Amino acid sequence: MAPGMKNIVILISGEGSNMAAIVGAAQRDGWGERLDARVAAVISNKAAARGLVFARGQGIATEVVEHTAHPTREAFDAALAAEIDRHAPALVVLAGFMRILTPEFVARYAGRLLNIHPSLLPAFPGLHTHQRAIEAGCRVAGATVHQVTAELDHGPILAQAVVPLLPHDTPDALAARVRTQEHLIYPRAIARFLSKP
Ligand code: GAR
Repeated sequence: MAPGMKNIVILISGEGSNMAAIVGAAQRDGWGERLDARVAAVISNKAAARGLVFARGQGIATEVVEHTAHPTREAFDAALAAEIDRHAPALVVLAGFMRILTPEFVARYAGRLLNIHPSLLPAFPGLHTHQRAIEAGCRVAGATVHQVTAELDHGPILAQAVVPLLPHDTPDALAARVRTQEHLIYPRAIARFLSKP
């Protein structure tokens, strides 16, 4: 590992399209030279997460820490932290990581833990955000990049993107429109975060 290199560890649970967008931006925008930063590892709580295939194809270290293999949330988070810490991360990035984290885990990575959430926080924390935005009659929807704090889907906002909510939108159509924006704002927010002294 190059001295002073800032390692980014990305946590996923599924598709990993945000992770792929971050990896792509890191390559395209030369994060290695510009920011002394690199994506060091991608960790999933599910072995079948499709994003792992992409990450491996990019030559990025991948790990699986199955939540089902651990009896408690605390035990899972401890095993996850042990895996993360092997990479001495400057930044831990949640990218579609669908597990609620313990306060101990959040405290361990305080100030270096980011998340993307598919709503305009503080509206619609939690699950089924697109369905809920449609049902509420919202005219806009979007996504939020934020620092993770102990309270789920709260914490200082780093970036947001707004998309229109169209008259006959379905949750899937809206999710796809939001996701396209997520892929733009998450890499940018990370680059900005890493470039701060
Ligand atoms: C993204 O839309 C992300 O905002 C959301 O899951 C999707 C993951 O997609 N995250 C959450 O709902 C977190 N509670 P991806 O695996 O293709 O990046």
